[in-house]
Amino acid sequence: MIKQALTDQLGRPMRDLRISVTDRCNFRCSYCMPKEVFGDDYAFLPKQELLTFEEIHRLTELFVSMGVKKIRLTGGEPLLRKGLPELIKLIFSVKGVEDVGLTTNGVLLKKHGQALYDAGLRRLNISLDALDPELFGKLNGRGVSSEHILEQIDYAKALGFSIKVNMVVQKHVNDVEILPMAAYFKERDITLRFIEFMDVGNDNNWSFKKVVTKKEILEKLKTVYTLTPVDKDYFGEVAKRYRYQDSDAQVGFITSVSESFCSSCTRSRLSSDGKFYTCLFATEGFDVRELLRNDWTDTQLLEAIGAVWNGRRDRYSDERTEATAKNRKKIGMSYIGG
Ligand code: GTP
Ligand code: 5AD
Ligand code: SF4
Ligand code: SF4
Repeated sequence: MIKQALTDQLGRPMRDLRISVTDRCNFRCSYCMPKEVFGDDYAFLPKQELLTFEEIHRLTELFVSMGVKKIRLTGGEPLLRKGLPELIKLIFSVKGVEDVGLTTNGVLLKKHGQALYDAGLRRLNISLDALDPELFGKLNGRGVSSEHILEQIDYAKALGFSIKVNMVVQKHVNDVEILPMAAYFKERDITLRFIEFMDVGNDNNWSFKKVVTKKEILEKLKTVYTLTPVDKDYFGEVAKRYRYQDSDAQVGFITSVSESFCSSCTRSRLSSDGKFYTCLFATEGFDVRELLRNDWTDTQLLEAIGAVWNGRRDRYSDERTEATAKNRKKIGMSYIGG
């Protein structure tokens, strides 16, 4: 019998798995983990609630057998998870995994970069929202200077990593940094991606007014640069990329708000405590850890996870309004990993 490809109710296959390896972070970006909510007494997940590396390995095998080819490790801050290079090796050992990437705030790259590289990792997406040291210190909520992150980026680049930088743009907060950031990373031939501020979770005080759209950013860039669009690398690529006329460097835009991309969304997500989510803006997850720890067989697990994907209808960003942003109960970004 020919196995039918797994698709959801809108015909979308499952191609990517984003795995959050911890809900903790050493930053307190206001759009993700505002200090007022994630204070000193915040109850993060205890260790026994986190998926173990063996459990993640097993789930990776199962998800790959359902069509996943790309794995992204996220957090919180994934470099806070002890032994991460070991997990990376385990993931690479799964036949059918074509690509593994890590999304990080970069603080600990000098400490762990070499071990990550030795484990086989080659792709890093590093978040940086401003070059101005003081502004960046304020944005990350921990007073860490942008210079510290720029050093870590240089270090990782010298090790041989392929790097993209993610900048979340908020109106009247860091939009003055658009041109300086573009100039800095163009010069270093690193792709900078501007991310439209999103209403993830329920704590970040989002509103349409605070979003700087791709159109606005592009207009600003075009006052200085000539940019031409670049074709997508693969179906479902999130960023829309452009090339500078006079260099090989590129810029990208992640336009969840102004030009949503749900119709090609092939992403599944696992929270650090083993809940399976079919959308970044989901309300409920499906508890896979519970099943793993109750000795479900691979066949049973595949059936259960497949049924969830098959029933999927998520298209939150297509339907977003001020009201859904405010009223819908959504899981937090640091918990699900972006
Ligand atoms: P690449 O494999 O390098 O293209 O990674 P990526 O861009 O998919 O991952 P990254 O973790 O760097 O995410 C960049 C931004 O895109 C983050 O703000 C994510 O929250 C956002 N993003 C990624 N996937 C989705 C998605 O499915 N929906 C929405 N709304 N945003 C997403
Ligand atoms: N809107 C847009 N992007 C966000 N990120 C975190 N919170 C938000 C938000 N509210 C980004 C981080 C990181 C990526 C995983 O998601 O800056 O680059
Ligand atoms: Fe931490 Fe990233 Fe969230 Fe900032 S956006 S608080 S660095 S997980
Ligand atoms: Fe996918 Fe949900 Fe993002 Fe739409 S909003 S692209 S369905 S994760």
